[in-house]
Amino acid sequence: MRRRVALAAAAALLAATAAAGRDRPDERVVFRYLGVKWCRTCHSRRSDNPRLGLFHTWEDSAHARAWDDLPDDQKDNPACLRCHTTGYGMPRRPDVTDAELRGVQCEACHGPGSHYFTWRVMKDPVKARERGLRDPTREVCARCHW
Ligand code: HEC
Ligand code: HEC
Ligand code: HEC
Ligand code: HEC
Repeated sequence: MRRRVALAAAAALLAATAAAGRDRPDERVVFRYLGVKWCRTCHSRRSDNPRLGLFHTWEDSAHARAWDDLPDDQKDNPACLRCHTTGYGMPRRPDVTDAELRGVQCEACHGPGSHYFTWRVMKDPVKARERGLRDPTREVCARCHW
């Protein structure tokens, strides 16, 4: 009888460890910056849905020009790039170049897109937020505007 309880306990422990093992990779997921070209593929559409046409509004904004507006001798200065580019010093997908993250892009306000940028995730507001989509609060702006 005792033995059976011990076995059950061992089995429960095993199951718990297995579950923890499954959960652990999720906790280690790192959200990475992709660059605006990915956001543009869906958000520059001619569409009845204004949410999918926002690229052009951004493209014409001061944020889009933030890196171009730096004086030539400051374009590589880390002290400026922190606020005049996107995700400076933060994890990015390995294929993404510096040039692709110039200016204050979508992800500077909406969060790094590596895990929310698929259609399936994007159309689900809860899932998208679980995977790195951020609501652009005052604190987000205040990282650069003070
Ligand atoms: C594969 C297509 C696709 C890509 C790529 C994509 N989006 Fe989206 N996005 C959508 C769709 C679809 C919606 C939902 C539109 C709706 O609610 O009507 C959406 C919604 C959003 C929303 C509003 C979400 C909410 O719940 O308030 C934000 C913000 C957003 N996208 C930002 C981005 C950013 C930033 C990128 C680039 C990193 C990006 N999207 C890339 C398709 C895409
Ligand atoms: C990553 C840094 C960064 C973040 C985050 C950021 N901004 Fe900016 N913002 C800038 C920079 C840099 C400029 C200047 C761009 C230029 O003119 O070259 C700017 C310009 C602006 C301007 C235009 C000012 C003008 O003179 O035309 C407004 C308005 C603005 N930001 C509002 C916001 C708001 C609101 C948020 C948050 C939702 C925000 N910004 C988030 C860096 C940032
Ligand atoms: C903490 C964030 C931050 C840092 C660091 C920063 N900037 Fe800016 N910069 C901004 C913001 C925000 C604006 C927009 C201000 C506004 O219009 O209200 C701006 C605007 C500018 C503009 C005006 C763009 C225009 O034409 O209207 C220039 C030029 C500029 N910054 C150069 C620099 C240089 C050079 C450095 C590095 C030595 C630098 N900035 C560092 C946040 C920053
Ligand atoms: C300077 C910060 C900033 C940048 C850069 C920015 N956004 Fe936004 N975005 C916001 C804010 C603030 C809102 C309004 C959020 C709210 O209503 O709660 C918003 C709202 C949205 C929405 C939802 C609109 C709606 O009607 O509900 C979408 C979709 C979106 N942004 C996509 C993008 C895309 C795509 C880019 C790049 C092409 C981008 N944003 C760049 C700050 C930014």
